[in-house]
Amino acid sequence: MKKDEKYRLLTEQIKALIEGETDSVAVMANVCAAIHETMGFFWTGFYRVMDGELVLGPFQGPVACMHIPFGRGVCGSAWEQKKTLVVPDVEQFPGHIACSSLSRSEIVVPVFSQANEVIAVLDIDSKELATFDETDRQYLEGICKLIK
Ligand code: SME
Repeated sequence: MKKDEKYRLLTEQIKALIEGETDSVAVMANVCAAIHETMGFFWTGFYRVMDGELVLGPFQGPVACMHIPFGRGVCGSAWEQKKTLVVPDVEQFPGHIACSSLSRSEIVVPVFSQANEVIAVLDIDSKELATFDETDRQYLEGICKLIK
């Protein structure tokens, strides 16, 4: 199945899965599990904005760093810039935080509140270089918009 088609089905599955759920941690837990299982990524998870820093939230994959300051690493930069960052080679990203030496490329998508504040970021890591492209960005942004 093409990536595009996988994401289309995944988005439908996630919509049904989180319908009516108001607890954001429960939603993030099932969203990252669904993405991880369907797409087979190396690490898929959320960092939540808590008291001015990012704190590790629901995730799938190996253990990871628990606190990330504003503006630091790919996650902190996506939060600061309020936009998705696609990093084809983490070694080329200044200040990249290496939770795992196996991670080679990543994408970080902010999750926004109704008031347009970043409340969390979705971070996905790959063991291969240049895994993420415009298709990933588009669908993952769509999925993050479903999270309230
Ligand atoms: N690499 C991320 C840190 C989080 S871990 O990859 C799970 C970053 O630079 O923000």
